[in-house]
Amino acid sequence: MSAQKVIIVTGASMGLGKATAKALLERGARVVGFARSAEALWDLAHSLPQEVQTHFLPVPGDITRGEDVARLLEQTRSRFGGQLDGIVHNAGTLGGIERVADVSVQAWKHVFDVNVFSILDLTQRALPLLRTSGGRVLVVSSGAATHAYTGWSSYSASKAAANMLVQSIAAEEPRITALAIRPGVLDTGMQDYIRREGKEVMKPSEYAKFTGLKADGKLGSPDLVAKVLSRLVLTADQELNGGFYNWTDEALEPYVM
Ligand SMILES: NC(=O)c1ccc[n+]([C@@H]2O[C@H](COP(=O)([O-])OP(=O)(O)OC[C@H]3O[C@@H](n4cnc5c(N)ncnc54)[C@H](OP(=O)(O)O)[C@@H]3O)[C@@H](O)[C@H]2O)c1
Repeated sequence: MSAQKVIIVTGASMGLGKATAKALLERGARVVGFARSAEALWDLAHSLPQEVQTHFLPVPGDITRGEDVARLLEQTRSRFGGQLDGIVHNAGTLGGIERVADVSVQAWKHVFDVNVFSILDLTQRALPLLRTSGGRVLVVSSGAATHAYTGWSSYSASKAAANMLVQSIAAEEPRITALAIRPGVLDTGMQDYIRREGKEVMKPSEYAKFTGLKADGKLGSPDLVAKVLSRLVLTADQELNGGFYNWTDEALEPYVM
């Protein structure tokens, strides 16, 4: 199904991005993993079975730096002969947990740099390759795109903006399939961060929701979501184009497992 397809995964050093890179490799795809943590990317490379190691290209870099994104594309081209079949825009940050009354414009801009402008930048640079391949663009969004939590204003707004960017790509690029996925509340570093930093500012009921999910063992598994994301970026049908889907949405049933 996925033999020889080439997919870029951003934020592949940990959490959902790492799980998605591994799921893609298991499906036979070639994967370019991008994140700032070079050591974590190389650890992932070295943990792979020998015969799969050449299928994974680690590219360390910061998604907010244009020169790093340009290098990501250059290295992808030179390793895989100009082939690119999809991107999983997964790198993300919650930003500082601060009320609208307190948060700085600069802090908001940083969250938008990571969660929105990086998607625009990488997608724009990759468009010629994606048009040629009839490729797919997957954005890892969030339930926060449509629901406000105290202290998360920049994150929520950035995910809502990313959803609209997906709709715009879908409307403007007939050769490309673009969709946004809500992965649920996952047991990753982002949730560690919320439990560590959220207590002061989040409402007690909001904070208790996240600590309770952890305490009850009910946080989602990144590996399960990664299976769906990997299948979607390889094979998502055009009829899904432009949508914002919960990963458990009925429309995505054909992509489970
Ligand atoms: N966890 C949840 O409950 C949850 C819920 C809804 C949506 N999401 C979304 O899921 C995605 C993955 O999050 P996660 O839960 O796996 O969080 P995570 O464990 O914190 O991973 C975030 C990833 O993004 C990368 N990243 C952050 N800033 C970057 C930058 N400037 N340049 C390059 N890479 C950068 C990190 O790598 P480096 O630090 O190595 O750069 C890391 O690989 C995010 O888009 C998040 O918004 C998560």
